[in-house]
Amino acid sequence: MAPAVLVEKLKKSYGDVQAVKDVSFAIEPGEIFGLLGPNGSGKTTTIRCLCTLMTPDSGRLAINGVSVLEDPRTARQMLGYIAQEVALDKVLTGRELLELQAAIYHLPKATLKPRIEQMLDLLEIADIADKKTGNYSGGQQKRLDLAAGLLHQPSVLVLDEPTVGLDIESRTAVWRFLRQLRDEGTTILLTSHYLEEVDALAGRVAIIDKGEVISTGTPSDLKAQVGGDRITLRIREFTTDPEAEKARSLLSDLPVVQEVIVNSAQGNSLNLVVDKEADALAAVQSTLKSAGLPTFGISQSQPSLDDVYLAATGRTLMDAEMAAAGKRDVKKERKQNMR
Ligand SMILES: Nc1ncnc2c1ncn2[C@@H]1O[C@H](COP(=O)(O)OP(=O)(O)OP(=O)(O)O)[C@@H](O)[C@H]1O
Ligand SMILES: [Mg+2]
Repeated sequence: MAPAVLVEKLKKSYGDVQAVKDVSFAIEPGEIFGLLGPNGSGKTTTIRCLCTLMTPDSGRLAINGVSVLEDPRTARQMLGYIAQEVALDKVLTGRELLELQAAIYHLPKATLKPRIEQMLDLLEIADIADKKTGNYSGGQQKRLDLAAGLLHQPSVLVLDEPTVGLDIESRTAVWRFLRQLRDEGTTILLTSHYLEEVDALAGRVAIIDKGEVISTGTPSDLKAQVGGDRITLRIREFTTDPEAEKARSLLSDLPVVQEVIVNSAQGNSLNLVVDKEADALAAVQSTLKSAGLPTFGISQSQPSLDDVYLAATGRTLMDAEMAAAGKRDVKKERKQNMR
């Protein structure tokens, strides 16, 4: 059977900017697949090409075996696309907007009304369906957007940053809904720069950096790849920079410590990559103690998807976002988004 989604050696430039250099992945029917990468890594460009909204420079794209480039109409019928930016017409009501969408997809009149009601109920927006969408909250707009993308019952749903800017309640509602769709057989491709989101939802992940896929696998496979015989120790919140620097320097000299990463974005915390077999924790604690440095707040963890990204690129996803965002306060934005 053909994969539900096939992206092969995709390339796309905007003038001199090589937005997508080499992206390939295949998604099996009924999978939730995550495309994870920092700002500007080429996620939106990839899925806009896949969803017939942009013509790639080269590469092969197929939905359920139908070539997107050769037969875009058939491919589009099987696709639902939820854009990153909510682009609702603010003057229409939610119901009117869904009716318009149904007309675009040539839904037969007889099934149109009940289908709209069903979607409104499913996404719990029936009570606001006759209000103008200009007055919807971010979460309500996103749900309406989802309803619009799902009206024609696509077998493949593509979502670009489905929960960015949503509060925690709307976010979990969207997650629940996507899992339910998956259980009913819909194939889902989503992009995200939230590690938590991809980890929670996706069966498999492709990590994309600067227009190239750098790793593909299940979240736990990817973690095991970088993990192997290593674990991460996190030491939180040294009060002063000199303290953190002293700790960094002392701990770097320990034979059990393979790598020390100072995470200045997180209150001078240190991430230590240590040998799993050795008693690294005790060695670290006694080193800090004899130097008169605080030893509380040391936690031990298996590698996260961020460690996968770090191992592949030498940067954390957060660093990459900060670099892309320039002066924007990424940490604060993240906190707000997680609320
Ligand atoms: N219409 C455009 N014209 C010129 N350059 C563009 C255009 N759209 C995107 N780019 C550039 O292409 C690169 C990839 O952008 P893209 O939007 O695909 O990234 P992304 O991974 O979706 O980022 P984000 O996480 O911020 O949504 C970036 O360098 C971006 O500035
Ligand atoms: Mg994007």
